[in-house]
Amino acid sequence: MDSIIVKGGNRLTGEIPVAGAKNTCLKLMCAALLTDEPLTLTNVPLLSDVATLALLLESLGCEIARLQGGRAVVLNAADIVDQKAHYDIVRKLRASFNVLGPLVGRCGEAVVSLPGGCAIGARKVDLHLAALEEMGATISLSDGYVHASAPNGLRGTEIEFPTVSVGATENAMCAATLAKGTTVLRNAAREPDTKALADCLTGMGARISGAGTSTITIDGVERLHGTTHRVIPDRIELGTYMIATGVAGGEVELIDGRRELVGALSDAMERAGIEISETEKGLKVRRDGGRILPVDVRTEPFPGFPTDLQAQMMALMCIADGTSMLEETIFENRFMHAPELIRMGANIDVHGGQAKVTGVERLKGAPVMATDLRASVSLILAGLAAEGETVVSRVYHLDRGYEHVEDKLGSLGATIERVSAT
Ligand code: UD1
Repeated sequence: MDSIIVKGGNRLTGEIPVAGAKNTCLKLMCAALLTDEPLTLTNVPLLSDVATLALLLESLGCEIARLQGGRAVVLNAADIVDQKAHYDIVRKLRASFNVLGPLVGRCGEAVVSLPGGCAIGARKVDLHLAALEEMGATISLSDGYVHASAPNGLRGTEIEFPTVSVGATENAMCAATLAKGTTVLRNAAREPDTKALADCLTGMGARISGAGTSTITIDGVERLHGTTHRVIPDRIELGTYMIATGVAGGEVELIDGRRELVGALSDAMERAGIEISETEKGLKVRRDGGRILPVDVRTEPFPGFPTDLQAQMMALMCIADGTSMLEETIFENRFMHAPELIRMGANIDVHGGQAKVTGVERLKGAPVMATDLRASVSLILAGLAAEGETVVSRVYHLDRGYEHVEDKLGSLGATIERVSAT
Protein backbone atom coordinates (compact mmCIF):
# COMPACT_ATOMS: atom_id res chain seq x y z
CA MET A 1 0.00 0.00 0.00
CA ASP A 2 1.42 3.39 -0.98
CA SER A 3 2.21 6.20 1.43
CA ILE A 4 2.93 9.86 0.79
CA ILE A 5 5.73 11.62 2.63
CA VAL A 6 5.62 15.40 2.95
CA LYS A 7 8.38 17.57 4.42
CA GLY A 8 6.80 20.83 5.52
CA GLY A 9 8.01 24.39 5.31
CA ASN A 10 8.19 25.16 1.57
CA ARG A 11 6.12 27.91 0.04
CA LEU A 12 4.22 27.04 -3.13
CA THR A 13 4.81 28.97 -6.34
CA GLY A 14 3.91 28.42 -9.96
CA GLU A 15 0.89 27.23 -11.91
CA ILE A 16 -0.96 23.94 -12.21
CA PRO A 17 -3.94 22.84 -14.28
CA VAL A 18 -7.24 21.90 -12.64
CA ALA A 19 -8.40 18.48 -13.83
CA GLY A 20 -11.90 17.63 -15.08
CA ALA A 21 -14.45 17.17 -12.28
CA LYS A 22 -14.63 13.66 -10.88
CA ASN A 23 -18.21 13.87 -9.62
CA THR A 24 -19.46 15.40 -12.86
CA CYS A 25 -17.62 12.93 -15.04
CA LEU A 26 -19.00 9.91 -13.16
CA LYS A 27 -22.61 11.04 -13.63
CA LEU A 28 -22.00 11.85 -17.30
CA MET A 29 -20.63 8.34 -17.79
CA CYS A 30 -23.81 6.88 -16.21
CA ALA A 31 -25.90 9.05 -18.55
CA ALA A 32 -24.33 7.24 -21.53
CA LEU A 33 -26.71 4.37 -20.70
CA LEU A 34 -29.64 6.55 -21.78
CA THR A 35 -28.82 6.30 -25.49
CA ASP A 36 -27.82 3.69 -28.05
CA GLU A 37 -25.50 6.23 -29.70
CA PRO A 38 -21.92 7.06 -28.56
CA LEU A 39 -21.38 9.72 -25.91
CA THR A 40 -17.90 11.26 -26.09
CA LEU A 41 -16.51 12.94 -22.99
CA THR A 42 -13.39 15.10 -23.03
CA ASN A 43 -11.31 16.57 -20.18
CA VAL A 44 -11.81 13.29 -18.32
CA PRO A 45 -9.78 13.06 -15.08
CA LEU A 46 -7.34 10.16 -14.75
CA LEU A 47 -8.69 8.70 -11.51
CA SER A 48 -9.34 5.27 -10.10
CA ASP A 49 -13.04 6.13 -9.56
CA VAL A 50 -13.40 6.72 -13.31
CA ALA A 51 -11.74 3.35 -14.03
CA THR A 52 -14.00 1.60 -11.49
CA LEU A 53 -17.17 3.04 -13.00
CA ALA A 54 -15.94 2.12 -16.49
CA LEU A 55 -15.69 -1.50 -15.34
CA LEU A 56 -19.28 -1.38 -14.10
CA LEU A 57 -20.58 0.16 -17.33
CA GLU A 58 -18.68 -2.43 -19.37
CA SER A 59 -20.28 -5.21 -17.32
CA LEU A 60 -23.67 -3.81 -18.41
CA GLY A 61 -22.65 -3.96 -22.08
CA CYS A 62 -21.42 -0.40 -22.62
CA GLU A 63 -18.34 -0.35 -24.87
CA ILE A 64 -15.72 2.17 -23.80
CA ALA A 65 -12.87 3.46 -25.95
CA ARG A 66 -10.18 5.59 -24.38
CA LEU A 67 -8.51 8.32 -26.46
CA GLN A 68 -5.77 10.85 -25.67
CA GLY A 69 -4.30 8.62 -22.95
CA GLY A 70 -7.68 8.41 -21.21
CA ARG A 71 -8.38 12.17 -21.34
CA ALA A 72 -11.28 11.41 -23.69
CA VAL A 73 -13.63 8.46 -23.55
CA VAL A 74 -16.26 7.28 -25.98
CA LEU A 75 -19.06 5.36 -24.29
CA ASN A 76 -21.28 3.28 -26.54
CA ALA A 77 -24.28 1.66 -24.87
CA ALA A 78 -25.89 0.46 -28.11
CA ASP A 79 -26.59 -2.93 -26.51
CA ILE A 80 -27.31 -3.14 -22.80
CA VAL A 81 -26.74 -6.82 -22.11
CA ASP A 82 -27.29 -6.81 -18.34
CA GLN A 83 -29.35 -4.52 -16.10
CA LYS A 84 -27.73 -5.69 -12.88
CA ALA A 85 -25.04 -3.60 -11.20
CA HIS A 86 -23.19 -6.00 -8.94
CA TYR A 87 -22.14 -5.42 -5.35
CA ASP A 88 -18.44 -6.07 -5.94
CA ILE A 89 -18.16 -2.86 -8.01
CA VAL A 90 -20.96 -0.68 -6.60
CA ARG A 91 -19.60 -1.05 -3.05
CA LYS A 92 -16.37 0.67 -4.12
CA LEU A 93 -18.07 3.70 -5.55
CA ARG A 94 -21.29 5.33 -4.42
CA ALA A 95 -21.67 7.22 -7.69
CA SER A 96 -22.28 3.90 -9.43
CA PHE A 97 -25.76 3.96 -7.87
CA ASN A 98 -26.45 6.58 -10.53
CA VAL A 99 -26.79 3.87 -13.18
CA LEU A 100 -30.21 3.21 -11.63
CA GLY A 101 -32.12 6.16 -13.16
CA PRO A 102 -30.65 5.73 -16.67
CA LEU A 103 -31.25 1.94 -16.66
CA VAL A 104 -34.87 2.18 -15.51
CA GLY A 105 -35.47 5.13 -17.83
CA ARG A 106 -34.18 3.32 -20.91
CA CYS A 107 -34.82 -0.39 -20.17
CA GLY A 108 -37.75 -0.23 -17.72
CA GLU A 109 -35.83 -2.47 -15.34
CA ALA A 110 -32.72 -2.38 -13.14
CA VAL A 111 -31.18 -4.31 -10.29
CA VAL A 112 -28.54 -2.26 -8.47
CA SER A 113 -26.60 -3.11 -5.35
CA LEU A 114 -26.93 -0.76 -2.42
CA PRO A 115 -23.83 1.45 -2.59
CA GLY A 116 -20.58 1.92 -0.67
CA GLY A 117 -18.17 4.85 -1.10
CA CYS A 118 -16.45 6.91 1.59
CA ALA A 119 -17.39 5.95 5.16
CA ILE A 120 -18.57 9.43 6.12
CA GLY A 121 -22.07 8.62 7.31
CA ALA A 122 -25.12 6.48 6.66
CA ARG A 123 -25.52 7.79 3.09
CA LYS A 124 -28.98 6.46 2.44
CA VAL A 125 -30.63 6.09 -0.98
CA ASP A 126 -34.26 6.55 0.10
CA LEU A 127 -34.60 9.81 -1.85
CA HIS A 128 -33.40 8.15 -5.06
CA LEU A 129 -35.93 5.35 -4.62
CA ALA A 130 -38.84 7.58 -3.61
CA ALA A 131 -38.30 9.72 -6.72
CA LEU A 132 -38.40 6.71 -9.04
CA GLU A 133 -41.47 5.35 -7.24
CA GLU A 134 -43.24 8.65 -7.75
CA MET A 135 -42.45 8.29 -11.44
CA GLY A 136 -44.24 4.96 -11.45
CA ALA A 137 -41.45 2.45 -10.82
CA THR A 138 -42.06 -0.51 -8.53
CA ILE A 139 -39.19 -0.79 -6.07
CA SER A 140 -38.26 -3.71 -3.86
CA LEU A 141 -35.17 -4.52 -1.80
CA SER A 142 -33.72 -7.97 -1.39
CA ASP A 143 -30.28 -9.44 -0.63
CA GLY A 144 -28.68 -5.99 -0.61
CA TYR A 145 -30.02 -5.13 -4.06
CA VAL A 146 -32.60 -2.61 -5.23
CA HIS A 147 -34.97 -3.99 -7.86
CA ALA A 148 -36.68 -1.28 -9.88
CA SER A 149 -39.22 -2.04 -12.54
CA ALA A 150 -41.32 0.11 -14.87
CA PRO A 151 -42.18 -2.18 -17.78
CA ASN A 152 -44.47 0.39 -19.38
CA GLY A 153 -42.00 3.24 -18.89
CA LEU A 154 -41.79 6.00 -16.28
CA ARG A 155 -44.23 8.90 -16.20
CA GLY A 156 -43.58 12.53 -15.44
CA THR A 157 -44.69 13.88 -12.07
CA GLU A 158 -43.90 16.53 -9.44
CA ILE A 159 -41.27 15.51 -6.91
CA GLU A 160 -40.34 17.60 -3.88
CA PHE A 161 -37.14 16.39 -2.21
CA PRO A 162 -37.34 16.71 1.60
CA THR A 163 -33.58 17.38 1.71
CA VAL A 164 -31.23 18.43 -1.03
CA SER A 165 -29.49 15.42 -2.54
CA VAL A 166 -27.06 15.73 -5.41
CA GLY A 167 -27.19 12.04 -6.34
CA ALA A 168 -30.99 11.73 -6.07
CA THR A 169 -31.56 14.89 -8.14
CA GLU A 170 -29.24 13.53 -10.83
CA ASN A 171 -30.75 10.02 -10.84
CA ALA A 172 -34.29 11.44 -11.09
CA MET A 173 -33.28 13.95 -13.78
CA CYS A 174 -31.73 11.21 -15.94
CA ALA A 175 -34.73 8.91 -15.50
CA ALA A 176 -37.14 11.75 -16.33
CA THR A 177 -35.51 12.52 -19.69
CA LEU A 178 -37.18 9.43 -21.19
CA ALA A 179 -40.39 9.47 -19.10
CA LYS A 180 -43.81 10.18 -20.57
CA GLY A 181 -44.78 13.76 -19.81
CA THR A 182 -43.25 16.43 -17.62
CA THR A 183 -41.32 15.95 -14.39
CA VAL A 184 -40.74 18.84 -12.00
CA LEU A 185 -38.02 18.40 -9.35
CA ARG A 186 -38.36 20.79 -6.40
CA ASN A 187 -35.69 21.45 -3.76
CA ALA A 188 -33.28 20.05 -6.35
CA ALA A 189 -29.51 20.22 -5.99
CA ARG A 190 -27.98 23.35 -7.53
CA GLU A 191 -24.43 21.98 -7.72
CA PRO A 192 -22.41 22.86 -10.86
CA ASP A 193 -22.10 19.07 -11.41
CA THR A 194 -25.89 18.77 -11.67
CA LYS A 195 -26.06 21.74 -14.06
CA ALA A 196 -23.28 20.20 -16.17
CA LEU A 197 -25.17 16.89 -16.33
CA ALA A 198 -28.28 18.76 -17.50
CA ASP A 199 -26.20 20.53 -20.17
CA CYS A 200 -24.86 17.20 -21.43
CA LEU A 201 -28.34 15.63 -21.43
CA THR A 202 -29.63 18.64 -23.34
CA GLY A 203 -26.86 18.06 -25.88
CA MET A 204 -28.19 14.49 -26.14
CA GLY A 205 -31.66 15.80 -27.01
CA ALA A 206 -33.25 16.04 -23.54
CA ARG A 207 -35.58 18.95 -22.76
CA ILE A 208 -34.52 20.37 -19.40
CA SER A 209 -34.96 23.83 -17.91
CA GLY A 210 -34.04 25.30 -14.55
CA ALA A 211 -30.89 23.24 -13.90
CA GLY A 212 -28.66 25.18 -11.53
CA THR A 213 -31.77 26.40 -9.65
CA SER A 214 -33.80 24.50 -7.05
CA THR A 215 -36.62 23.75 -9.53
CA ILE A 216 -35.76 21.64 -12.55
CA THR A 217 -38.33 20.82 -15.23
CA ILE A 218 -37.82 17.92 -17.60
CA ASP A 219 -40.11 17.24 -20.56
CA GLY A 220 -39.67 13.59 -21.47
CA VAL A 221 -38.64 12.71 -25.03
CA GLU A 222 -38.88 9.43 -27.03
CA ARG A 223 -35.13 8.90 -27.32
CA LEU A 224 -31.78 10.56 -26.73
CA HIS A 225 -28.83 10.63 -29.11
CA GLY A 226 -25.05 10.84 -28.85
CA THR A 227 -23.04 14.01 -28.34
CA THR A 228 -19.60 15.28 -27.33
CA HIS A 229 -19.28 17.01 -23.98
CA ARG A 230 -16.32 18.58 -22.13
CA VAL A 231 -16.18 17.86 -18.38
CA ILE A 232 -16.12 21.07 -16.29
CA PRO A 233 -13.10 21.81 -14.03
CA ASP A 234 -13.15 20.02 -10.67
CA ARG A 235 -14.18 22.60 -8.08
CA ILE A 236 -13.08 20.36 -5.22
CA GLU A 237 -9.61 19.84 -6.68
CA LEU A 238 -9.50 23.59 -7.39
CA GLY A 239 -10.54 24.39 -3.82
CA THR A 240 -8.04 21.91 -2.41
CA TYR A 241 -5.09 23.58 -4.18
CA MET A 242 -6.41 27.02 -3.23
CA ILE A 243 -6.37 25.95 0.41
CA ALA A 244 -2.96 24.27 -0.05
CA THR A 245 -1.58 27.65 -1.12
CA GLY A 246 -3.16 29.25 1.93
CA VAL A 247 -1.67 26.63 4.23
CA ALA A 248 1.85 26.71 2.78
CA GLY A 249 1.95 30.38 1.70
CA GLY A 250 3.15 31.52 -1.71
CA GLU A 251 1.49 32.35 -5.01
CA VAL A 252 -0.19 29.79 -7.25
CA GLU A 253 -2.22 30.15 -10.44
CA LEU A 254 -4.84 27.47 -10.99
CA ILE A 255 -5.42 27.12 -14.70
CA ASP A 256 -9.09 26.71 -15.65
CA GLY A 257 -10.17 27.70 -12.10
CA ARG A 258 -13.29 29.84 -11.90
CA ARG A 259 -14.56 31.76 -8.89
CA GLU A 260 -18.20 30.81 -9.45
CA LEU A 261 -17.26 27.16 -8.87
CA VAL A 262 -15.92 27.91 -5.39
CA GLY A 263 -17.70 31.11 -4.35
CA ALA A 264 -18.22 30.26 -0.69
CA LEU A 265 -14.63 29.01 -0.34
CA SER A 266 -13.21 32.16 -1.94
CA ASP A 267 -15.18 34.29 0.52
CA ALA A 268 -13.97 32.24 3.49
CA MET A 269 -10.36 32.33 2.33
CA GLU A 270 -10.47 36.08 1.78
CA ARG A 271 -11.81 36.50 5.31
CA ALA A 272 -8.83 34.40 6.43
CA GLY A 273 -6.54 36.99 4.84
CA ILE A 274 -5.68 35.13 1.63
CA GLU A 275 -5.76 37.01 -1.69
CA ILE A 276 -7.72 35.54 -4.57
CA SER A 277 -7.85 37.11 -8.01
CA GLU A 278 -9.21 36.14 -11.37
CA THR A 279 -6.71 35.96 -14.22
CA GLU A 280 -7.04 35.31 -17.92
CA LYS A 281 -6.10 31.68 -17.38
CA GLY A 282 -7.90 30.93 -14.14
CA LEU A 283 -7.61 31.90 -10.47
CA LYS A 284 -4.57 33.15 -8.59
CA VAL A 285 -4.18 32.57 -4.86
CA ARG A 286 -1.60 34.38 -2.77
CA ARG A 287 -0.53 34.46 0.83
CA ASP A 288 2.49 36.37 2.08
CA GLY A 289 3.93 35.92 5.55
CA GLY A 290 1.77 36.51 8.62
CA ARG A 291 -0.77 34.30 10.34
CA ILE A 292 -4.06 33.12 8.88
CA LEU A 293 -7.16 34.71 10.44
CA PRO A 294 -9.72 32.33 11.98
CA VAL A 295 -13.04 32.01 10.11
CA ASP A 296 -16.18 30.07 10.98
CA VAL A 297 -17.52 27.76 8.31
CA ARG A 298 -20.77 25.81 7.95
CA THR A 299 -21.13 23.24 5.20
CA GLU A 300 -24.25 23.54 3.07
CA PRO A 301 -25.54 22.46 -0.32
CA PHE A 302 -24.26 24.61 -3.21
CA PRO A 303 -23.81 27.60 -3.30
CA GLY A 304 -22.87 27.15 0.38
CA PHE A 305 -19.51 25.93 1.61
CA PRO A 306 -18.95 22.40 0.22
CA THR A 307 -18.70 19.49 2.61
CA ASP A 308 -16.01 18.09 0.31
CA LEU A 309 -13.72 21.01 1.32
CA GLN A 310 -14.42 20.95 5.05
CA ALA A 311 -11.46 18.70 5.95
CA GLN A 312 -9.06 20.84 3.91
CA MET A 313 -10.44 24.03 5.53
CA MET A 314 -9.87 22.45 8.93
CA ALA A 315 -6.19 21.94 8.04
CA LEU A 316 -5.99 25.66 7.26
CA MET A 317 -7.73 26.67 10.49
CA CYS A 318 -5.31 24.50 12.47
CA ILE A 319 -2.64 27.16 11.88
CA ALA A 320 -4.91 30.23 12.23
CA ASP A 321 -4.24 32.91 14.81
CA GLY A 322 -7.30 32.23 16.96
CA THR A 323 -10.32 29.96 17.26
CA SER A 324 -12.73 28.96 14.52
CA MET A 325 -15.87 26.82 14.47
CA LEU A 326 -16.43 24.36 11.65
CA GLU A 327 -19.93 22.97 11.39
CA GLU A 328 -20.74 19.93 9.25
CA THR A 329 -24.40 19.77 8.26
CA ILE A 330 -24.35 17.36 5.30
CA PHE A 331 -22.78 14.16 6.65
CA GLU A 332 -22.92 12.99 10.26
CA ASN A 333 -19.50 11.35 10.47
CA ARG A 334 -17.19 13.64 8.64
CA PHE A 335 -14.56 14.67 11.19
CA MET A 336 -12.41 11.55 10.98
CA HIS A 337 -9.43 13.68 9.98
CA ALA A 338 -9.60 15.55 13.31
CA PRO A 339 -7.87 12.85 15.43
CA GLU A 340 -5.14 12.57 12.80
CA LEU A 341 -4.63 16.36 12.73
CA ILE A 342 -4.45 16.26 16.54
CA ARG A 343 -1.58 13.75 16.17
CA MET A 344 0.19 16.54 14.28
CA GLY A 345 -0.23 18.96 17.18
CA ALA A 346 -3.55 20.56 16.20
CA ASN A 347 -5.95 21.74 18.89
CA ILE A 348 -9.42 20.49 17.89
CA ASP A 349 -12.52 19.72 19.98
CA VAL A 350 -15.27 17.82 18.17
CA HIS A 351 -18.82 17.86 19.56
CA GLY A 352 -21.35 16.19 17.29
CA GLY A 353 -21.42 18.11 14.05
CA GLN A 354 -19.21 20.93 15.30
CA ALA A 355 -15.46 21.24 15.58
CA LYS A 356 -13.77 24.01 17.54
CA VAL A 357 -10.31 24.57 16.12
CA THR A 358 -7.82 26.69 18.04
CA GLY A 359 -4.92 27.50 15.79
CA VAL A 360 -1.35 26.69 16.72
CA GLU A 361 1.76 28.45 15.47
CA ARG A 362 3.21 25.27 13.97
CA LEU A 363 2.03 21.75 13.32
CA LYS A 364 4.50 18.90 13.72
CA GLY A 365 4.99 16.10 11.22
CA ALA A 366 3.72 12.65 12.30
CA PRO A 367 2.67 9.33 10.83
CA VAL A 368 -1.05 9.63 10.06
CA MET A 369 -3.67 7.54 8.34
CA ALA A 370 -6.06 8.54 5.57
CA THR A 371 -9.66 7.56 6.36
CA ASP A 372 -11.51 8.86 3.33
CA LEU A 373 -10.90 10.77 0.15
CA ARG A 374 -11.07 14.37 1.37
CA ALA A 375 -9.68 13.57 4.83
CA SER A 376 -6.57 12.13 3.23
CA VAL A 377 -5.78 15.26 1.28
CA SER A 378 -6.32 17.42 4.37
CA LEU A 379 -3.48 15.52 6.07
CA ILE A 380 -1.19 16.23 3.13
CA LEU A 381 -2.11 19.92 3.31
CA ALA A 382 -1.39 19.95 7.04
CA GLY A 383 1.95 18.30 6.26
CA LEU A 384 2.86 21.24 3.99
CA ALA A 385 2.80 23.55 7.01
CA ALA A 386 4.24 21.11 9.56
CA GLU A 387 7.72 21.02 10.95
CA GLY A 388 9.46 17.82 9.85
CA GLU A 389 8.07 14.81 8.06
CA THR A 390 4.45 13.68 7.73
CA VAL A 391 3.81 10.18 6.45
CA VAL A 392 0.25 9.66 5.19
CA SER A 393 -0.61 6.00 4.79
CA ARG A 394 -3.58 4.38 3.01
CA VAL A 395 -3.40 6.87 0.17
CA TYR A 396 -5.49 4.66 -2.11
CA HIS A 397 -8.37 6.87 -0.92
CA LEU A 398 -6.55 9.82 -2.43
CA ASP A 399 -6.12 8.21 -5.84
CA ARG A 400 -9.90 7.92 -6.12
CA GLY A 401 -10.20 11.68 -6.47
CA TYR A 402 -6.86 13.43 -7.04
CA GLU A 403 -4.66 13.04 -10.10
CA HIS A 404 -1.01 12.67 -9.03
CA VAL A 405 -1.25 14.99 -6.08
CA GLU A 406 2.46 14.54 -5.35
CA ASP A 407 3.43 15.65 -8.87
CA LYS A 408 1.18 18.71 -8.77
CA LEU A 409 2.34 19.86 -5.32
CA GLY A 410 5.94 18.88 -6.16
CA SER A 411 5.88 21.08 -9.27
CA LEU A 412 4.88 23.99 -7.02
CA GLY A 413 7.91 23.45 -4.78
CA ALA A 414 6.59 21.13 -2.07
CA THR A 415 8.90 18.38 -0.85
CA ILE A 416 6.62 15.42 -1.33
CA GLU A 417 7.03 11.87 -2.56
CA ARG A 418 5.07 8.67 -2.91
CA VAL A 419 6.61 5.50 -1.57
CA SER A 420 5.31 2.06 -2.41
CA ALA A 421 5.34 -0.44 0.41
CA THR A 422 6.94 -3.71 -0.64
C1 UD1 B 1 -22.42 13.92 -3.71
C2 UD1 B 1 -20.95 13.91 -4.00
C3 UD1 B 1 -20.15 14.00 -2.71
C4 UD1 B 1 -20.59 15.20 -1.90
C5 UD1 B 1 -22.11 15.20 -1.70
C6 UD1 B 1 -22.64 16.45 -1.04
C7 UD1 B 1 -20.83 12.53 -5.99
C8 UD1 B 1 -20.32 11.29 -6.60
N1 UD1 B 1 -20.60 12.70 -4.69
O1 UD1 B 1 -22.69 12.75 -2.93
O2 UD1 B 1 -18.77 14.13 -3.06
O3 UD1 B 1 -19.97 15.15 -0.63
O4 UD1 B 1 -22.77 15.09 -2.98
O5 UD1 B 1 -22.25 17.58 -1.73
O6 UD1 B 1 -21.40 13.37 -6.65
N2 UD1 B 1 -29.34 11.49 1.68
C9 UD1 B 1 -30.42 10.80 2.19
N3 UD1 B 1 -31.11 9.97 1.34
C10 UD1 B 1 -30.76 9.82 0.03
C11 UD1 B 1 -29.68 10.55 -0.48
C12 UD1 B 1 -28.98 11.39 0.37
O7 UD1 B 1 -30.75 10.89 3.37
O8 UD1 B 1 -31.43 9.06 -0.69
C13 UD1 B 1 -28.59 12.39 2.58
C14 UD1 B 1 -27.12 11.96 2.71
O9 UD1 B 1 -26.96 10.96 3.68
C15 UD1 B 1 -26.47 13.27 3.08
C16 UD1 B 1 -27.29 14.31 2.30
O10 UD1 B 1 -28.52 13.67 1.99
O11 UD1 B 1 -26.62 13.50 4.45
C17 UD1 B 1 -26.64 14.81 1.04
O12 UD1 B 1 -26.22 13.69 0.26
P1 UD1 B 1 -26.14 13.74 -1.33
O13 UD1 B 1 -26.24 15.16 -1.81
O14 UD1 B 1 -27.10 12.76 -1.88
O15 UD1 B 1 -24.67 13.22 -1.58
P2 UD1 B 1 -24.18 12.25 -2.72
O16 UD1 B 1 -24.96 12.52 -3.97
O17 UD1 B 1 -24.09 10.89 -2.21
